[in-house]
Amino acid sequence: MFINQEDAIRPSLKGKRIALAFFENSTRTRFSFEIAARNLGAQTLNFSASSSSLSKGESMIDTIRNLEAMRVDAFIIRHPSSGSAEMIGKSTDKHVINAGDGSREHPTQALLDIFTLREYFGSLEGIKVMILGDILHSRVARSNIFGLTTLGAEVAVCGPATLLPVDTSRLGIRIFSQLDEALGWADAAIVLRLQLERATGGYLPSLQDYSFTFGLTDERLEKIKKHLPVLHPGPINREIEISGNVADRIQPPGFSQSMLLEQVTNGVAVRTAVLELLISPQPDT
Ligand code: CP
Repeated sequence: MFINQEDAIRPSLKGKRIALAFFENSTRTRFSFEIAARNLGAQTLNFSASSSSLSKGESMIDTIRNLEAMRVDAFIIRHPSSGSAEMIGKSTDKHVINAGDGSREHPTQALLDIFTLREYFGSLEGIKVMILGDILHSRVARSNIFGLTTLGAEVAVCGPATLLPVDTSRLGIRIFSQLDEALGWADAAIVLRLQLERATGGYLPSLQDYSFTFGLTDERLEKIKKHLPVLHPGPINREIEISGNVADRIQPPGFSQSMLLEQVTNGVAVRTAVLELLISPQPDT
């Protein structure tokens, strides 16, 4: 574990009020932001779309304005529509943190993924990170591509052509269509959730075909004869994009080391830092 829980508890946000405005479901992001905010002494307001007045036709912006009238200092926004956090940011002068908007960005997930990879490798300069699966619908992939390349890592994506964005070649990253080749190249793998709510239909012949061609299993890892840290933002579809063996093996030796729960632990620390840096009054420099 990266951080001692007791070290993380300090009242730097005492008296602040933070709204967790989740218009879409979440487990990891929501709870880690809530733990982080409470550890820093902030008061948290939990909002979920299904139990709010959105169901009576109130708009997102009116909802935010009403929360603002309750003296909220910061909004943490999860929304199924791309661009919604930015839209809210333009309609309030309070702090707005994007906790995942549609298929656009998930910045704090990328920060915690990058932190986890830096814990493992030290520096990311020249480290080859392969992002596997449903790139098209993935806000995690987009944020990680920007973050990892900024820190000097080499990034590649691998997945079926139907699940790659048409502008992938403009991102300055490698593209693999064969998983064995991609694994041979990579120092680390970030496996993405196959977004079953979006990625079936015309995108894939069947889940079995996807799993056979792009599922990360011990059999595939065994072929490359090297040890690979494996990340996944969660939630996972067990035995579809990742086998249970790969997801659960947290100790070497083996073909791979699962970083999945380490990522979740690091999420609290990273989100604590984000909240403190953004909201806590900073001394003049
Ligand atoms: N990784 C992630 O964003 O998970 P949740 O949807 O559970 O927050």
